[in-house]
Amino acid sequence: MVLQDAYGRTVTNLRISLTQRCNLACIYCHAEGEVDPKEQMSVEEIAEIMQVGKKFGIRSIKLTGGEPLLRPDILDIIRAVPPGIEVSMTTNGTLLAEKAQALKAAGLSRVNVSLDTLKRERYQEITGKDQLDRVLAGIRAAIDAGLTPVKLNMVLLKGINDDELDDFMAFVRGNRDLILQVIELMDFGNCTSHSDVDGVERDLDTRATQIVTRRMHHRKKYCLDNAEVEVVRPLHNTEFCAFCNRLRLTSDGKLKPCLLRSDNLVDIRGKHGDELEAAFQKAVEIREPFFR
Ligand code: 5AD
Repeated sequence: MVLQDAYGRTVTNLRISLTQRCNLACIYCHAEGEVDPKEQMSVEEIAEIMQVGKKFGIRSIKLTGGEPLLRPDILDIIRAVPPGIEVSMTTNGTLLAEKAQALKAAGLSRVNVSLDTLKRERYQEITGKDQLDRVLAGIRAAIDAGLTPVKLNMVLLKGINDDELDDFMAFVRGNRDLILQVIELMDFGNCTSHSDVDGVERDLDTRATQIVTRRMHHRKKYCLDNAEVEVVRPLHNTEFCAFCNRLRLTSDGKLKPCLLRSDNLVDIRGKHGDELEAAFQKAVEIREPFFR
């Protein structure tokens, strides 16, 4: 059964935050405060909500955090994904090198790796840790393990990394397993270094050999000289909301109908069976576009 909200939007993608913990401290991060790891959902709880999601039309799941690879039971969580649902992960990549093969074997399809700079010192300035080499090794291991395409999430930060676009394109160029995803900064933390994403899009518009607008994925995809680049604009894109097919689950067990709101969460803690299904349906029903 596929659920629709009042705006005719269906929910096919569930994004599950597995933990608020992270081993990096990015200047722009949208972490919403610490959740006591004891409050994190268990594998069983996650498994049950994934089953309910499948019943109501979820076809893909994204595991996020915090840093999802900090969960010692990450392989069990992946194995608990119901058959027929594609599962991917957004990770900072620092722990990927040693885990990529096992993640693939457990059923993970692909990864997004957060990577805002290819320069070691900048990496440390942005994330607080000297881990660039680990991340690059993680990306290679993910490609070797077949966790592809590997998407590099680059948040564009004015005066910090916005001079690196060409370097990033060179990095992904010619490698069919790598896609660059340029992300517009959202003001979650205290970083307000907004870069000129309009300018980037205009530039790509003129340079691209092929442009695909993927409304369902609320992004534009550009191909230029064997480099594949996507631009993700949550804030300046009326279609971001109109075509939103996502529902989120916080690490402490609350369904979150909108990325940009935290005042309409639906608690699923302690709910099972019919009650859990009702909570899921409610979270879909109350969805409304943030931008119209
Ligand atoms: N603005 C835009 N994207 C963000 N991310 C985290 N914080 C922000 C922000 N303030 C993205 C990063 C990371 C993903 C988990 O979320 O790209 O890869």
